[in-house]
Amino acid sequence: MELPFAENYKIKMIEPIWRSTREQRETWIQEAKYNLFRLKSEQVYIDLLTDSGTGAMSDRQWAALMTGDESYAGSSSFIRLKETVQSIFGFEYFLPTHQGRAAENVLFSVLIKSGDTVPGNSHFDTTKGHIEFRKAKAVDCTIDEAFDPDNLHPFKGNVDLNKLEQVLATTPGDQVPAIIMTLTCNTAGGQPVSMQNLREVRALADRFGVPVIFDSARFAENAWFIRQREPGYQGKTIREIVAEMYSLADGMTMSSKKDGLVNIGGFLAMRHKDWYDRASIFNIMYEGFLTYGGMAGRDMNALAVGLEEVVEEEYLRARISQVGYWGNKLIAAGIPVQKPIGGHAVFVDAKRFLPLVPKEEFVAQALAVELYLEAGVRGVEVGTLLADRDPETRQNRFPKLEFLRLAIPRRCYTNNHLDVVAAALQNVYERRMHIRKGFRILNEAPVMRHFTIELEKVEL
Ligand code: F0G
Repeated sequence: MELPFAENYKIKMIEPIWRSTREQRETWIQEAKYNLFRLKSEQVYIDLLTDSGTGAMSDRQWAALMTGDESYAGSSSFIRLKETVQSIFGFEYFLPTHQGRAAENVLFSVLIKSGDTVPGNSHFDTTKGHIEFRKAKAVDCTIDEAFDPDNLHPFKGNVDLNKLEQVLATTPGDQVPAIIMTLTCNTAGGQPVSMQNLREVRALADRFGVPVIFDSARFAENAWFIRQREPGYQGKTIREIVAEMYSLADGMTMSSKKDGLVNIGGFLAMRHKDWYDRASIFNIMYEGFLTYGGMAGRDMNALAVGLEEVVEEEYLRARISQVGYWGNKLIAAGIPVQKPIGGHAVFVDAKRFLPLVPKEEFVAQALAVELYLEAGVRGVEVGTLLADRDPETRQNRFPKLEFLRLAIPRRCYTNNHLDVVAAALQNVYERRMHIRKGFRILNEAPVMRHFTIELEKVEL
């Protein structure tokens, strides 16, 4: 018999978690104003809110923490991290930051001005926030296939080259500071971008003289999908694929909390010295001196090890297999999800799951609350609350798809935990025709409202 696949690690340390009762959860979610970000972690049994900073580090990373160099300037941990980044991504210039959005803030302070247009494949919400905060426009050029959950396109994170060309051709050159490619594309469902698409985007960018930035939070997962799905890459190592991907970019922003395999941290890296010189000033102002940028020396050490681990083939096999195992189990149970299953999460199609809840009542949030009540599982709405209001008209933006994202932290939960979530989702699915009402907004912040929003139930 062929031996089945199993993870390439065993568990050395555990953290207890608790189940609660439905009555407890009803009280807690009401107190949290139906916003799952407002729950205390002990009120959650299985936490799939995010894969960001929530994973487990390896013993090698914990060991590296102990040898961190906390010198303010010139720390050996910084040099180790810088060399690791150079060897994996090939960028000469490197600045650490405290997390991904900080890297965006620093780089965009250099690149983006009021009135600019920044096209890409569905910018992440903090990226879009930093663009719109500068009174610039984020334009989504994702392929149409990404908006059809049943379409099995292998690279639903790809940019539609016609849409991109249209933006470049109709916007004055000095008003497009960069194209941003998000790898994998979080908003579209953790969907990868193909090497071919990256190459074609680069060619188009060169034609119009526009730089290309990779938002790299899940770069290794993207490389894994290229290896699995794109002709010509089966014989290559992940490191070779990553090197080829990044040869097509001018620079990168990184949230190390995902494919850095650490709990906090970020960085930016780039090819151009003039970008670096200007970004250095913002880094010192916003983040910290050039050789720590908001990170402790020990955390830079752990990140250097994490970046080496994340490009190991066996690590990625375990990671992507777990997400795939679980996603395919949900598909087999008839639950509508974004297909094929992406790299870091399963995205449940809330409009099809709860057909009776109007989109004006935040259908994906309604599903998130139902799943929490059912089993203490926390997911996150990727729908109208996240899409926020149009900055000019202040009207709600209703995205084509309303998702409940169930993100899987790295090396954290077992398949048994995920089986509990699958059963809970099935239970909610069985009573979906009795769920008719969602929520209305009591209070919201002017930008990135979903983190702090307060909601109340719409009564029948
Ligand atoms: N880019 C992408 C694609 C992301 O998914 C995130 C964060 C960021 C940038 C910002 O990085 O959190 O380190 O400041 N995504 C998290 C999530 C929050 O849950 O998907 P950060």
